[in-house]
Amino acid sequence: MTHLDLQKIEKLNSRYRANFINSITGYKSCNLLGTNSSSGNTNLAIFSSLVHIGSSPALLGFVLRPLTVRRDSFKNIEKTGQFTVNQVSSDLFKQAHQTAAKYKEEVSEFEAVGLTEQYLNDFKAPYVKESRLKVGCTYKNHYLLEENGCILVIGAVEHIYFPQEIQDDDGFLELNKINTVTAMGQDGYALPDFLGRLSYARPDSEPKFL
Ligand SMILES: Cc1cc2nc3c(=O)[nH]c(=O)nc-3n(C[C@H](O)[C@H](O)[C@H](O)COP(=O)(O)O)c2cc1C
Repeated sequence: MTHLDLQKIEKLNSRYRANFINSITGYKSCNLLGTNSSSGNTNLAIFSSLVHIGSSPALLGFVLRPLTVRRDSFKNIEKTGQFTVNQVSSDLFKQAHQTAAKYKEEVSEFEAVGLTEQYLNDFKAPYVKESRLKVGCTYKNHYLLEENGCILVIGAVEHIYFPQEIQDDDGFLELNKINTVTAMGQDGYALPDFLGRLSYARPDSEPKFL
């Protein structure tokens, strides 16, 4: 088995290290963040760091790279207080990837990559019409991660849209039914195989399939 210690990791060239270290935490979520600027330009960007923060209240978060260059999504979120989170399905992953390109501020990635803006229930931030699971969030807070200058942004869930047929009776969403993709590293995408749901883990019993 290959072994690298910190000394060896620090000697890796930066692109290689980014690819390598970005892979070691496993499969990641794959979402498009939709925002608009105060002057009305729409913005769309792929993020693989979306995480569940809590369900009551319903909160999610994402990690933003350091503010050393223009960060349109964050600037828009701070200004307007809203963003949408749109899951990427297998038919959208190439367009989703392309949103990472550094387009000029006034260029809308929706238009540039061929995805459609959608406005639902008076929410100001744009959803991705082609996405099958979308969440409207309001900005709550952000925290500077002193270790590397990244920022953890926290949003409160205000709206959730999905096809009813993917939901189990207990609330669980079968994301495999809408072909939600997972992100691997910084540029890999995969469609996971759903292995099943298991019963609540207890010390005195084996897990059973639900
Ligand atoms: C697969 C993938 C995942 C990404 N995940 C993140 C992320 O979690 N955080 C981040 O700051 N940038 C991430 N990026 C980079 C942003 O998509 C990119 O910087 C984008 O231009 C940001 O757009 P904005 O300036 O309009 O916000 C990711 C890029 C790719 C291709």
